[in-house]
Amino acid sequence: MKIRVTLLLIISFFLLTTCTKDQAGPDGCFQEDVFPIFVSNCTMSGCHNSKDKRAGYDLSNYEGIMKGITAKHPLNSEIYNTIRGNNPSMPEKPYAKLSSKDVNMIKLWINMGARNSSNCKNCDTINFTYAGRVKGIMQIWCVGCHNSANSGGGFDLSNYNGLVSSLANNKLLGSIKHLPGFSAMPQSGGQISSCDINAIQKWIANGYPNN
Ligand code: HEC
Repeated sequence: MKIRVTLLLIISFFLLTTCTKDQAGPDGCFQEDVFPIFVSNCTMSGCHNSKDKRAGYDLSNYEGIMKGITAKHPLNSEIYNTIRGNNPSMPEKPYAKLSSKDVNMIKLWINMGARNSSNCKNCDTINFTYAGRVKGIMQIWCVGCHNSANSGGGFDLSNYNGLVSSLANNKLLGSIKHLPGFSAMPQSGGQISSCDINAIQKWIANGYPNN
């Protein structure tokens, strides 16, 4: 009897841990895959941040995003309906519409239950190249506000040269590490993971090659 109870406990423990960690799968993780899309494309000044709350939406945190999401039902989710299709109403001009990859990621996450999942991915401690690593971090977290048409603080982080120009005076690291004396980035929500910060730091220490 005792053995059975112990076995049951062990099995439920395994079920619980696998469920909370990976249920959404590596491709539907809120913190790593979905949240950065909102931060980079929706929370700029005048839009959906804690101060401006356009249309009542603060999209700089999970609870605020969930006000426009019905878990498992993308088509009943106001947020999904404004970003999908050929002529989405959001993001408004002059901001670019979301890529179909981003729209599909949000749809997948809603279909999977729209959970506040995090730490779904193992930290890559090997690859610190620009093209293979750093560029992707900029793409998902920063480029919505830092591109050729709309360069927050004068920085276009969508390409190598623009990113290198942000290294002067330690601005890039100071801003992503939220150090005093720098504007904390991303501007209206959260902080990129310590794994990503470490990758950017390693790339800079290696002489920030264009590799
Ligand atoms: C929601 C829009 C938004 C997002 C997302 C965003 N930024 Fe910014 N960023 C701005 C604006 C606007 C400024 C200029 C005003 C300021 O310094 O606060 C700025 C300024 C900066 C500066 C200059 C900081 C300083 O102290 O002078 C750096 C460096 C920077 N951003 C890097 C980044 C990086 C890296 C990311 C992604 C991790 C990012 N930003 C994400 C809007 C954004």
